[in-house]
Amino acid sequence: MASTFMRLLLLLVVTISALISSPAFAISSNKRRKSTNIINQINHNGPYIGLITVYPPEENAFFANGAFKSHPTHPFVDLAGRRFRVGKVHNKKVIYVRCGVGMVNAAAVTQQILDMFDITGIVHFGIAGNANSSMSIGDVTIPKQFVDTGLWDWLKPNGTDPSDFAHLDIGNYNDPKGEGNNLLGRIGYSTEYFYSESGEPNTPQRVVWLNTTHQWLKLAGNLEGIKLDQCVNSSLCLSQQPKVVIGLRGSTANAFVDNAAYRDFLYNTFQVTSLDMESSAVLMTSLSNSSPVIVIRGLSDLAGAQEGKNPIHVFGPLAATNTAKVVIEFLKILPIEHNWPLTIE
Ligand SMILES: *[C@@H]1O[C@H](CO)[C@@H](O)[C@H](O)[C@H]1NC(C)=O
Ligand SMILES: *[C@@H]1O[C@H](CO)[C@@H](O)[C@H](O)[C@H]1NC(C)=O
Ligand SMILES: *[C@@H]1O[C@H](CO)[C@@H](O)[C@H](O)[C@H]1NC(C)=O
Ligand SMILES: *[C@@H]1O[C@H](CO)[C@@H](O)[C@H](O)[C@H]1NC(C)=O
Repeated sequence: MASTFMRLLLLLVVTISALISSPAFAISSNKRRKSTNIINQINHNGPYIGLITVYPPEENAFFANGAFKSHPTHPFVDLAGRRFRVGKVHNKKVIYVRCGVGMVNAAAVTQQILDMFDITGIVHFGIAGNANSSMSIGDVTIPKQFVDTGLWDWLKPNGTDPSDFAHLDIGNYNDPKGEGNNLLGRIGYSTEYFYSESGEPNTPQRVVWLNTTHQWLKLAGNLEGIKLDQCVNSSLCLSQQPKVVIGLRGSTANAFVDNAAYRDFLYNTFQVTSLDMESSAVLMTSLSNSSPVIVIRGLSDLAGAQEGKNPIHVFGPLAATNTAKVVIEFLKILPIEHNWPLTIE
């Protein structure tokens, strides 16, 4: 009795859920087919440089520059909740997307843009915290390599793990120093698992440093002298002229750093200048797919070394404007023939 009733109930549930879900499924698969047609047409006009930025202040600065011209008939495609914009910058065909904050968003969007579109390389850009006291807010860094500082083994006090590259002993940061035991113990920095087309399938390489594309970094050397903005507005200017610096190191993790002690730990352990939440994810995903990639990050704050409140809200827009300038200049000097059969402008 009970089992027949249960079977009937199950049948009812299955029928109702099929009724509810099938029209929705039809819409979504229709939408997907339509997107595929548009993407095919867009790719027919390719190839493109993929531009990936992170969040609205960076996007606003990029579009405020005015160099981006939308494609006349296919200005964008929406995929996985993001808008991929098709256009040109200084006659270079580009597909621009804002991935959203954090490494999951960054990696997902990078894989998606490489899979869906005809992309010859990725230019990733945004703002970042600064851990290097020889650099200043407003400067733009084009690093040669990145470390993912989000991979940790959380250990007992004085614990060890042979695969750890470095350790952070939490008790060393007690204030006053040396008082009591710190039960959080130590965390050991563990290396990234890098998969690549050139490696054995399913066999990741353990790496600390992910490198941006050497030829593009060399080309970026030509941008060292470009004039960057020094003022937020008529009453607030930086004390020195911002500069572009090529070839330093950056760090990425799913943590916004606003802490002087942790900033100094990262600088001293990894010799990193910029601290952000996406670059190494875009970099590693690009490299896994054998795509050329460069990262351009403008310094917006001191990652916790400042007195008082983090100045990202004051200097973020300036850092984003300078970043956009450098991105656009880089696209200008990038030697790629990009000619649409359609006239644009
Ligand atoms: C950890 O090591 C330090 C120095 O080697 C020692 O003073 C301390 O007692 C150790 N702590 C624990 C919990 O083992
Ligand atoms: C990046 O370059 C370093 C040398 O600076 C090298 O040791 C490392 O293996 C490179 N990383 C990858 C993933 O190829
Ligand atoms: C910090 O920045 C200065 C100025 O750009 C640079 O010369 C130096 O190499 C950087 N430090 C590290 C550890 O990269
Ligand atoms: C300039 O920007 C600062 C920081 O956002 C703000 O406090 C100040 O009022 C602005 N000044 C003018 C003239 O807009």
